[in-house]
Order: sequence, then structure tokens, then C-alpha cells
Amino acid sequence: MPVIAMINQKGGVGRTSTCHHLAGALADAGRRVLLVDNDPQASLSQGIFGCDVVRDLDPRQTIAGVYRLEIPDPRRIIHHTCVNGVDLLIGSKHVHAFNQPTPQEADRKLRGALGEAIAEVRDLYDLILIDCPPTLFLCTYAALLASDALIVPMQPELYCVQEMVDVEDFIDLVRLHNGRLALLGYLLTMVNPLLSIHKLWERKFRAVLGGDAFRGRIPVATDFKESILIGKPVSHYKPRSAAAKVMRELASEVDERLERQAAAKGAA
Ligand SMILES: Nc1ncnc2c1ncn2[C@@H]1O[C@H](COP(=O)(O)OP(=O)(O)O)[C@@H](O)[C@H]1O
Ligand SMILES: [Mg+2]
Repeated sequence: MPVIAMINQKGGVGRTSTCHHLAGALADAGRRVLLVDNDPQASLSQGIFGCDVVRDLDPRQTIAGVYRLEIPDPRRIIHHTCVNGVDLLIGSKHVHAFNQPTPQEADRKLRGALGEAIAEVRDLYDLILIDCPPTLFLCTYAALLASDALIVPMQPELYCVQEMVDVEDFIDLVRLHNGRLALLGYLLTMVNPLLSIHKLWERKFRAVLGGDAFRGRIPVATDFKESILIGKPVSHYKPRSAAAKVMRELASEVDERLERQAAAKGAA
């Protein structure tokens, strides 16, 4: 039942896609997964249920109810998806209003609301993945307060590497209030193995991060995009594809890293 947040302040680095496809691969391996759409853009929810369904929902049936401190029972805003074993806490554009740039100044109840909602259901799942917005504002802060671990997806590009310092400072800030938060790893996404600039950045990235970088990396592949178009993770759209294999391997590495972290915490 570990809770993992997917964070980066840069947009379009593959946070939402990684949540979606990783959940599919984990469910394939028999896990019960809760996806939490904590991004006011609600891309994850729209990718799974369609834009109209998400737009027409009463905000109280979404994560907005959590931030409005209105939801006594989070099970009311969690929905089964078309993938057996994957549930979704639906996102909402109404969360924009709460996503303030100075989270540490926000009301303590507001910062802790997501963690409280997740705490009520965490025993029902083997793993909880929180998709976050492309900001290090209140929603990301709340997600990290609620999490045991985090994954930082990033593309092998200069602009992404530049963001790392801010992300690390933000993690340190949250750790003052959540001592159990641990880095699960930096994850290279949308890698084009044919581009020499990507090869160069990957070498640098691994030299600097060592074991903090996932061994696995997510390549650029049309199968990832196509599967989202039909609302399924790639494991359920094209189970035999290279893209599905990558996500199965990533799911195993996530398990391996979580086990290592649990062992390290047990020994401490
Ligand atoms: N491995 C990939 N191969 C091809 N396209 C991808 C891949 N990962 C993500 N994308 C596409 O890149 C865009 C940004 O990805 P997304 O997961 O929404 O990023 P974020 O949530 O970080 O903003 C989307 O259009 C998505 O379909
Ligand atoms: Mg996203």
C-alpha cells in the first residue's frame, strides 16, 4: 500500500502517461492500484473516462471535494476503470483555485486534506499513484505530504535537467513535515535512442544520478499515445508490444525499489 507521487515542475515530461501505463502493468501483475488525479488539468481522468464525463461531474464527486474539505467518505469519489484492478480518484479543474504557489503558507487542513482522504482508503490497494500538476505549488505539496515515495519523470533535455535543483529543494522542504518521504528514482521518459543528443544526456544523467536513476527508461513510441486515445494503458491495448514490455519491466523495478526502501527503513 505505498503511496507514490509522480512529480516535476516541467509540463509534458510524461507524468500522466507514466501513471496510466504503470497502473496497467501493475494491475496485470495482480496488484490493486489506485490512481489519484491531483492535476487540475485532469488529463488522467479525461484519458480514462473521456472529456465530457469528467467535465459534467459535480465537483463534489471529484478530488475538488477533497480540497473543499467536503468529502467525509473518499470511496464516493473513487471509480472503477475499464482495467480490472485499477481505480481512479477523479480529477477536476475546480482544484485550480486551491493550487497556490506558496503551499507552506496555506491552511494546515487544506495541505493535509489529500493525505487524509488517501489514508482512509490506502488499505484497499497494493499501490497508490498520484499524478501531479506541472508546478511545485499546493497540489504537489499535498501529494508529497501524503506519499511514502516519489518518482521524477524527466526527458533527456537541457530544460529538464535545469528543473532538478528546484525539485530537490522542494522535496527537502516537504521532508521537514513528512520524514518518511523517499526518492524512488528519476525516470527518463520519451527517449529517442536514435538521437545522439538523447544518448549524450542519458550518459550525463546516469553519471550524475547513479542509483537514483531508474535502470529502465521509457522510449518514444506511438503505442503509448494510441492507447491513451482509446482510454487504456498500453498493457491492455497492445500487450505484446515493445511499449507494454517496457512498462512491465518498469513495474518490476518499482517493486524492487520499494522492497529495498522498506528493508532500509526496517533496518534503520
Ligand atoms: N513515451 C512516449 N512516447 C510518445 N509520446 C509520449 C510518451 N509519453 C508521453 N507522450 C506524449 O507526450 C505528451 C505529454 O505527456 P504527459 O504524460 O501528458 O506529460 P505530463 O503529464 O508530464 O504533462 C502527451 O501528448 C503524451 O501522449
Ligand atoms: Mg499531466
